[in-house]
Amino acid sequence: MTTDHPALAPTSRPDGWWRSAVVYQIYPRSFQDTDGDGIGDIPGITSRLDYLAELGVDVLWLSPVYRSPQVDNGYDISDYQDVDPLFGTLADLDELIAATHARGMKLVMDLVVNHTSDQHAWFTESRDPASAKRDWYYWRPAREGHEPGTPGAEPDDSRAAFAPSAWTYDPASGEYYLGIFSPGQPDLNWENEDVRHAVHRMMRWWVDRGVDGFRMDVINLISKPAALTSGGPIPAGAGGFGAIANGPRLDEFLAEMNREVGLDAEHLITVGEMPGATVEVARRVTDPARRELNMVFTFEHVNLDQASHSKWDLADLPLPVLKANLAHWQEGLADAGWNSLYLDNHDQPRAVSRFGDDSPEHRVSSAKTLATVLHLHKGTPYVYQGEEFGMTNAPLTRIEHYQDVESLNYHTLATAGGTPEEEVLASLAAKSRDHARTPVQWDATDNAGFTTGTPWFAVNPDHTEINAEAARRDPDSVFAHFQRLIRLRHDSETVREGRFALLLPDHEQIWAFTRTLEDERLLVVANCSSRPAELPLQELGELDDAELVLGTHADRDPGRLAAWESRVLRVRTL
Ligand code: GLC
Repeated sequence: MTTDHPALAPTSRPDGWWRSAVVYQIYPRSFQDTDGDGIGDIPGITSRLDYLAELGVDVLWLSPVYRSPQVDNGYDISDYQDVDPLFGTLADLDELIAATHARGMKLVMDLVVNHTSDQHAWFTESRDPASAKRDWYYWRPAREGHEPGTPGAEPDDSRAAFAPSAWTYDPASGEYYLGIFSPGQPDLNWENEDVRHAVHRMMRWWVDRGVDGFRMDVINLISKPAALTSGGPIPAGAGGFGAIANGPRLDEFLAEMNREVGLDAEHLITVGEMPGATVEVARRVTDPARRELNMVFTFEHVNLDQASHSKWDLADLPLPVLKANLAHWQEGLADAGWNSLYLDNHDQPRAVSRFGDDSPEHRVSSAKTLATVLHLHKGTPYVYQGEEFGMTNAPLTRIEHYQDVESLNYHTLATAGGTPEEEVLASLAAKSRDHARTPVQWDATDNAGFTTGTPWFAVNPDHTEINAEAARRDPDSVFAHFQRLIRLRHDSETVREGRFALLLPDHEQIWAFTRTLEDERLLVVANCSSRPAELPLQELGELDDAELVLGTHADRDPGRLAAWESRVLRVRTL
């Protein structure tokens, strides 16, 4: 198959429109319900488009709305070319696409093709050892000398992300299949070219339907290590996804996908989620000359507040460490490739609770300051639903409060392994994905305007204070600040393209950096702490005649920053 858009200029050239875009992520299940079943739906998204246009974002990314048994809230797809009745119909989606385009925004689908659901027709067929689709997934016999299906007979000792083993026994064929997330998410075998062609066809179908690109789920896991693809076990190793990510054919598969689907067409945007990808991998994959992806999501900065490869193993995160990591990615992709910028998404606890201070005194300033820092970096910023008005972590204190497959599995395994319940609950309260998945708080009414029914997940009780309606009315709100940041990116070439330089790398409170383009220099100074901070003027230079471009506080002391105060200043280049 070749692209239908040969006349369009490729976006991999360094001036792709997405370099000035801000993307907004929607987790449909928790966004807006319209039919009263307590679960968000596509008509609900359409009903909120004016709000998103008012915020000023350019692109909407929808977490999966395809047919799915919902083992992992839609990241387990049983039909790539249909919408799950929970969310509506294909006609609803067509309407959403048209209504999004009518407001000058674009719509990106989540592409989950490292694995399917175990209910997908491809997998159902693959269960039969004689079927032509047997090789579409990874099937293996029991470990030598073991009775298939008995404890310890799995082909190797690898754990799944959300289950005790990466291998699930299938009694009918007497073999095991690979599911590195959960048994409900069997991994596709990308070595098989029929698999790749089927995925390309499906993607083309969506592009022809009008979608503007793809956010690609765990896309650096599609090429598996040679040991595994040649029939052996998963190599034991790094822990996390280290042992299985960034396989030898990753670049080949991505370039082929780009070519076959026509992903370089000017109007499209691609972003690959890549756990375990280093800046070197990202530079390769996003180098325009290689025509693979426009940008990737790194995990490095969201893995810094853990003491081992397990996210549940909590550790403090000193500011210098976080700053250094973002700076490393800025520098690594300064001359080739492109960064994506995020603190929040559907897999992370709320940024204001995690990196900021969600107490009543500091929530608004810290949400604004975190946004200032992120949006002033070079790259494409991603806003996650509710982040734009400072939604916080939910008060989840008992295991009954959780629903996420990852959280529940961790609780089961850790408590069975002897970790005290209290410690497990503390880890969950800090890191569970459920914090991101509470319903969007539209207003102060009982169910926060999310549903007229019973919400599938409890609405955060702080919605009486923290909600979109209140934020929209207040010119000093987090929402208003996000609007300004988005406008600044649209208006300022320096914000989009300026060279990044980190200042004060060791400062424990202040995050400071410059962005420079030709003779314009912006200086960002942000106090990322709940105490005032003296501005080290000897190191920053004379700021007397600096012009304030954007700030979080009306009263400004020339020599110090208030708690969680940030300023963007236009300074003289020397
Ligand atoms: C990605 C998704 C996450 C999902 C996993 C498996 O990390 O963001 O929500 O559970 O992939 O599809």
